[in-house]
Amino acid sequence: MAIILDGKATAAQIRSEVAAKTAALKEKGITPGLAVILVGDDPASRIYVNNKKKACAEVGFYSEEIALPATTTQEELLSVVDELNHRTDIHGILCQLPLPKPLDDKAVIAAISPEKDVDAFHAVNVGRIMLGEYRFLPCTPAGVMELLHRAGISPAGKTCVVVGRSNIVGKPMAMLLLHENGTVTVCHSRTPDLAAVCRQADILVAAVGRARLITADMLKPGAVVVDVGMNRDENGKLCGDVDYDNVEPLASYITPVPGGVGPMTIAMLMQNTLTAAGG
Ligand code: GUN
Repeated sequence: MAIILDGKATAAQIRSEVAAKTAALKEKGITPGLAVILVGDDPASRIYVNNKKKACAEVGFYSEEIALPATTTQEELLSVVDELNHRTDIHGILCQLPLPKPLDDKAVIAAISPEKDVDAFHAVNVGRIMLGEYRFLPCTPAGVMELLHRAGISPAGKTCVVVGRSNIVGKPMAMLLLHENGTVTVCHSRTPDLAAVCRQADILVAAVGRARLITADMLKPGAVVVDVGMNRDENGKLCGDVDYDNVEPLASYITPVPGGVGPMTIAMLMQNTLTAAGG
């Protein structure tokens, strides 16, 4: 029986800590402001953006949604970003990804001022992560670290396996574990004998986006299992990258889906926006 790493409860705790610090900052005349750009009408992106706005309201931030049609040109989008870069009431800028075709995610990320890049996607912030000189940590890996810290789990001296190598999760996740003295292996879809590598893990982070890829036979008994996945199975049911029902009895700690890493991502976005505002 694993201990559940309850992201929903931990995220609520972090939001209340951010709210208290925001109240103190407001007394100095600063209200953290987050601008969220949403292009097109992707339903999943709409839900994410709504959740981000709701979290902003809860912690006492100013938030502004810039909803643009899918027909927006690259130039128009870049000029919106440029204007937000210059606004003193906006401390954080986030452009919800993916953008509709043919808009270029990379060009938009590059246009956001690194000091307002609360997703930590800009090359300058990615470079800072490599160097271990963080201002903003990318929200999902930061949320995973926070969940581990608050459960008293340290990567130091542990074998950590990250399954997935995305720029948003896998790569920075590996760096954060490494900075805390984990011994880290990054695996991916072309890793031969993925199961054998996963079985080495004291801490296993699954971030591949494949429903229930991580099965019980891939686990070292007693491992800490963190599931970043958010997938739909063949029946349309929400599930993670981990075969939860069969893995949970073997794990020491495990994150559920939903209610694990997901809520932590938004809590860390609030933390980053507070940092950007000087709180
Ligand atoms: N799309 C999926 N996840 C994210 C995220 O963390 N930030 C942004 N901007 N877009 C996303």
